[in-house]
Amino acid sequence: MTGSVADRALPEEVGRFLSLDPGVMSCPVDAFDELRDIAPVVEYPSHRMVVVTGRAEVSQVLRDTATFSSNQHANEESSHNMTEVLRRASAIARQRGGHTDLLDASGQTYPPVPPHSDPPLHTRQRRLIQPAFAPRRARAAEDMIVEMADRILDGLGDRDQIEIRSEYSDPLMVGYILTELHSVPEHAEMLLGWVGAFIRMQGSKLTDDELDEIAQARVDFDEYFLERIADIQANGSDDLLGKLVAAEIEGERLTVAELLMVAQTLLVGGTETSSTTTSKAVLHLTQHPELADELRAEPSKLAGFVEETLRLNGPIHLLFRRATRDVDLGGVMIPAGTRVGVHLGAAGRDAESCPVPHEVDVNRTQPPQLMFGSGAHYCAGAELARVQVRVALDRLLRRYRLLELPVPFEDIRFHPQINLHRPVELPIRLVRD
Ligand code: HEM
Repeated sequence: MTGSVADRALPEEVGRFLSLDPGVMSCPVDAFDELRDIAPVVEYPSHRMVVVTGRAEVSQVLRDTATFSSNQHANEESSHNMTEVLRRASAIARQRGGHTDLLDASGQTYPPVPPHSDPPLHTRQRRLIQPAFAPRRARAAEDMIVEMADRILDGLGDRDQIEIRSEYSDPLMVGYILTELHSVPEHAEMLLGWVGAFIRMQGSKLTDDELDEIAQARVDFDEYFLERIADIQANGSDDLLGKLVAAEIEGERLTVAELLMVAQTLLVGGTETSSTTTSKAVLHLTQHPELADELRAEPSKLAGFVEETLRLNGPIHLLFRRATRDVDLGGVMIPAGTRVGVHLGAAGRDAESCPVPHEVDVNRTQPPQLMFGSGAHYCAGAELARVQVRVALDRLLRRYRLLELPVPFEDIRFHPQINLHRPVELPIRLVRD
């Protein structure tokens, strides 16, 4: 690959960002700019991948599913962990005599599902999934989300300081998605324990004991949702899982194994992202109280603020793809097999396509932000997420006159992760009238 990809020495700020330096993680904007200034397509030698930061090139990668496969992992360690966990989970399940019916004709279990499946499998799955995410269903969810948000805020009583994620946005997003997954908020802790185990697979290579523990979580999770699916099959249900179980197009249905993996995807992808977006929007408002006043006075501007938050402060920095053939990207020849990091965080601030890119402009309509992806894998839950984050912010602003950061901005720590950008803890002081 040498010589085919820009391989200049990386600037200091970028180097610090790649080594997950806590100082840069809290505000990686300069690193994004430096990275994009080198070239829209750059080699990340330490992570053995090419990173795409230009908006035009990011769109090209996301839209070309034939050249850029989604069926791969963030790194080789994650891939190893995933394969091992699934192998061990299948063995446990077979021993228990439980869900051997998950194995398909080729003996394969736990198939890739969106967003990690490629066409033609992805095309079939997406056609079956899409109706459950119709925009009118997302709009109909608004009343329920308002009620849940108010209930959580009522429960805070007179408290004047909270940790905004664990005490507000997490319970709101998780509580909502659990009702949609035919479950109850009281099961949140147990389910999130399992989900936390799955998330641990996406890091460094795990030990045998850790792999066994996560395989056990996999089987427990499956058994829990197999019961839910059986209940829906017997009694029907109008929730999102009910829609997915009933989905049928030309005799095609999602298999039970696919339903389990989709439930997992929704529990992880449909909660963490919306909660992080809410918390980062609140963090921005603590630094710009005049904007909070404007949004409180004119709630119709909240939708624009949510879009700008996603563009500037979204929860996802990198998506991953793998080149299926040699391809020219932004004038750089990328060999087949190359791992490609699609940098949504940097693309959102590309001055080539976005005038005054670092400023929040709630009236901005162009270009559309890319935080929900683009093309065939465009986020199925985008409309729902927009409603969730807008309502979460609206209910806070209606109740509190001021949202303040009780610690210096520089003290807010972010998880040292290359693909997701989320505060570890975000204390917020709530000031009433
Ligand atoms: C602010 C919140 C959210 C953000 C920023 C976000 C972002 C994304 C992105 C970037 C993708 C494309 C991934 C790729 O191309 O590799 C995606 C896919 C997806 N998202 Fe979201 N998401 C959010 C919330 C949600 C919610 C609330 C749900 C559902 C409850 C959801 C369900 C999905 C599904 C099912 C896919 C797979 C689509 C496919 O591959 O066809 N997301 N999301």
